[in-house]
Amino acid sequence: MNKQAVVAHILRDCFKVPKYRQGTAFAPANIALCKYWGKRDLELNLPTTSSLSISLGSFGAKTTLYLQEGASHDVVFVNGKEVKAESTFVQNLVAFLDLFRPSPFSFFQIETEVNIPIGAGLASSACGFAAVVGALNQLYGWQLSMSNLSILARLGSGSAARSFWHGFVEWNCGVEKNGMDSFGVSLCEKWPNLRIGLLIFNAAQKPISSRIAMQNTVLTSPFYKLWPEKQACDLNRLREAIQSQNFIVLGETAESNALAMHALMLTANPAFFYSEPQTIAAQHKIWHHRRLGLPLFFTQDAGPNLKLLFLEQDSEAIEEIFPELEIIAPFSTHEMHPEGASS
Ligand code: DP6
Repeated sequence: MNKQAVVAHILRDCFKVPKYRQGTAFAPANIALCKYWGKRDLELNLPTTSSLSISLGSFGAKTTLYLQEGASHDVVFVNGKEVKAESTFVQNLVAFLDLFRPSPFSFFQIETEVNIPIGAGLASSACGFAAVVGALNQLYGWQLSMSNLSILARLGSGSAARSFWHGFVEWNCGVEKNGMDSFGVSLCEKWPNLRIGLLIFNAAQKPISSRIAMQNTVLTSPFYKLWPEKQACDLNRLREAIQSQNFIVLGETAESNALAMHALMLTANPAFFYSEPQTIAAQHKIWHHRRLGLPLFFTQDAGPNLKLLFLEQDSEAIEEIFPELEIIAPFSTHEMHPEGASS
């Protein structure tokens, strides 16, 4: 099954031309506590295992889409600046929008405001694709369910399936070939004093995309066969930790899951390592302070930056250790559905 067939299935009873002049939606960035690393279907971005994330509240992407009659190509603005048509970012977006044009000669203007660094392993593609899907839903007046929005966004980038909600989101890997059972579900649990700290060492585009790194790991790491078992165990521990608000179990499990993902990449051929010297120094600092009794954990995605996990009461102590830390209160927004993305 290909992407076009999934889109045709989901939009079979929907408007084929825009109902409004423009559509706008916001989608939060999300950080996986239990990672998505490996696909059972490359075309549809169907994961080998389920994953679980936390959204970053008001940090994410807000996108407005217009259909530009008479235009010869799509035009993309990010934070007010036009992005070159040759960039991978625009090429990926244009290929995704090809799935939703009223005719092959219809082109969009896309205006996105992003308040997280793009391509720095901070899941900007996740919130980017989710915001585009939310904006298409508004523009065309589709009124799709959250699960269908999540499936459509997954076709752009897997982790985008988790960017339609605030708080904790689980993305079920599903078993169906067409992926109609593989979408995000909000866990609805709140944890108001949970904090996420962004420790950004390098916000430049990463040298190897997570898409390539992930597939290379699946194909070449002799340890990849152990990953599903580790995931199942970590997912259970995380669900329980969230339900009982057991921060230590949450932190330990998320950190261990991220380290296991990076360990897999080290065992791939060729091996790759997203950490930079500053990443490793910060990890040692975290372990040092944890040994002294500070409940502080980290997770790391496909980049050198770290996301720290801690509780509000330790914010001051942690800011003293990492003065450059950007602290996010993921539950400061009261809604579980970001404005514009819900139907
Ligand atoms: C390390 O969602 O970027 O952030 O589906 O190929 O677009 P594609 O991959 P992507 O991978 C995210 C990988 C990760 C872990 C995670 O977010 O679960």
